[in-house]
Parts: sequence; structure tokens; C-alpha cells
Amino acid sequence: FLKVKVNKLANPFFVGMAIKASQLTNGSPYDIILKNEFSSISAEYEMKMDQISTASGIYNWTVADKIVAYGNANNINVHGHALVWHNSVPQWLKDFSGTDAEFAAEVKKYITDVVTHYAGKVKSWDVVNEAVDDNGGTMRNTIFLQRMGPNYVKDCFQWARAAATAAGDTSLLLFYNDYATSANTAKQDKVFSLLDDLKAAKVIDGVGFQMHNTYLSPTKAQIEADLNKAVAKGLKIHVSELDIQVNQFNDISTFTNERRLAQKAKYKEMVKIYNALPAANKYALTIWGMRDNESWIPYNTELNHPGNDWPLLYDANFAVKSSHTGFLEGLD
Ligand code: G3I
Repeated sequence: FLKVKVNKLANPFFVGMAIKASQLTNGSPYDIILKNEFSSISAEYEMKMDQISTASGIYNWTVADKIVAYGNANNINVHGHALVWHNSVPQWLKDFSGTDAEFAAEVKKYITDVVTHYAGKVKSWDVVNEAVDDNGGTMRNTIFLQRMGPNYVKDCFQWARAAATAAGDTSLLLFYNDYATSANTAKQDKVFSLLDDLKAAKVIDGVGFQMHNTYLSPTKAQIEADLNKAVAKGLKIHVSELDIQVNQFNDISTFTNERRLAQKAKYKEMVKIYNALPAANKYALTIWGMRDNESWIPYNTELNHPGNDWPLLYDANFAVKSSHTGFLEGLD
């Protein structure tokens, strides 16, 4: 089992899985696999703002509470994902007609209330997700940037930290989370300059590298260089959403043996790179979904997949794939 092998390491880390509340029924295949193999969970979407916040100051905690309670009851770490993300803004906040200052106050209230609600129950939060643009190193032009200005990321971290402290939680870890930084150095540079600002303000603990990778990219050297920049800054590192596509060119219609082996090698490489990080910088390595057939990848309209890809560790029957063996071998 993954977590058993990881826990035997001199410097273990959490092995995480993205989950949905509906999977957590006691005795379900998900539940059994989670308890055997994984030591951390991230909500795939049910702890985002559009799911929790139904109106100003009104929250639907039911589903998110179920996820957090599951982790807490089963000695599984709970990583909170994500407080602020431009793709999960609830309709009422998109439509908010107050001033910019009132908009910022709504975001502050949301962050404060959610961090307070889960204080002591959630070990870490992605405070802001994907604030940097893909093209050439500027901030992403989101509703948060437009309404709150360029310091909004720092403001959000400060509000999260203040809420945790006020609730008596002095060990909450605050992460900035983003994707595709390893092969895109303009984006990487901008992310690291943002991390510098957050470090200078003493509000950040770590960085999440999503790692929605393919069997070809990014290269080992690119990933190592990216992660080692975070090591140099003394940040904890969460490989936060790992999956490895094998059909990004839509050139196979079934999962071939050749691609299986290529994917296995790439999982092994990622785990090896992560495991080689200094102990102080390791936090968790999280896989973004359990079964291939439930992955977001084949359904994403921005990616070139006609419904066929096999990016995860388990097949549709909950059977381990060779990628799972690759993960285990990466720990040797
Ligand atoms: O909103 C309704 C909800 O009320 C209802 O209960 C549910 C029933 O299925 O449907 C909901 O829509 C969901 C939607 O997010 C809402 O935002 C979808 O089912 C759900 O599948 C969904 O997609 C998720 C997406 O983020 C948006 O939140 C994906 O599952 C998840 O894999 C994806 O994850 C993101 C990371 O958070 C950030 N990085 C990129 C990654 C892939 O896009």
C-alpha cells in the first residue's frame, strides 16, 4: 500500500487523494482504498466558494463538513482546497453591485468564516488558487484583481492567518496553489515573485504545484528546477493535483501497453523527485482523483481529449494500474 511504504521512509509525507463527499460511504470501494492507501484528502470541488457560499454570510456546510469529519475520524489529513479561485466564484458574488471596498469585505468575511469554521480540523488551506496568468508573467485578470487590486493575494493570506490565530489555530499551513509553472518559465517567474511578496509579509507556509502533467512533459529537469526554487525559499511543497495524461495528442483510442509503461515511468520519476526533497520541505503528494473514468481530464473542453485518457492510479474497476507500481518504485 502506498501510505504504508511512505510511512516507512526516514522522512515520510502525506499521500493525498482528491475526493468527493459521495465517495465516503463506509465500506465503499473508495473508502476501503482511502483508508489503506492514502493519508490525506483534498475535496475535488466541494470545499470551494461556489459550493459553500450561497449568499453573503450564508453557508452550506453540510457537504464540506462531511468531508472534513471523514478525515478527522479516520486519522486522514485534510487539506482545504480552495478559498479563493476565479473559477469557483458564486453567482451572487459575480453579480455583487456594491463598491470595490464592499466586495473586498465580502471576500474577507468568507475567508474568515470558513477558516474559523474549520479551525483545528483542516491542517492546511490553498488560500488563493491560480492567480497568475498563463501568458507571460502577469497577474491573471480575475474578478478579484479587478475589484481588489494587485495586493489581493496578500490580503487574502493575511485574513486567513488572522482568522486562524483568532480561533486558536497556530499551526494552520497556508498555501498558494498554481499549475503549469515547470515548463513555462515566464509564469514560473511571476509565481515566484508573488511568493516572495507573501514570504516578505510572513503569511505563507507553502506552495502547491498542481502537476497536471503528461507522459512527456514537463521534463525531470524542469520539475526539479521548479521545486528546488521553492526549497531555496524555505517553503513547504505540495504536489497538489498530480495526474499524468497519456493521450494529449488524441493519437490512441485504447490504453496501449507502450503508454502504460511511459506513464508508469513518469509517475515513478515524479515520486522520486518529490521524495528526494529535504524533509522540511515535504508536505503531501496528492493524486487528482481515484479512477481513470472519473478524472476531469477527458471531460475538459480546453484539452484535446475526445473522452479517452487514463491519467490516474486505478482503472474503472478500482484495480491498481502500472502507474501505481511506478509510484511505489519511486519510493525505493
Ligand atoms: O455546482 C454543482 C453542484 O452544486 C452539484 O452538486 C454537482 C453535481 O455533480 O455539480 C456541480 O458542478 C460541479 C462543478 O465543479 C462546480 O464548480 C461539477 O459536478 C464538478 O465536476 C466540477 O468540476 C471540478 C472543477 O475543478 C471545478 O470545481 C472538477 O471536478 C475538478 O477536478 C476541478 O479541479 C481543478 C482544481 O480545483 C484546480 N486546478 C485545476 C483542476 C481541474 O480543473
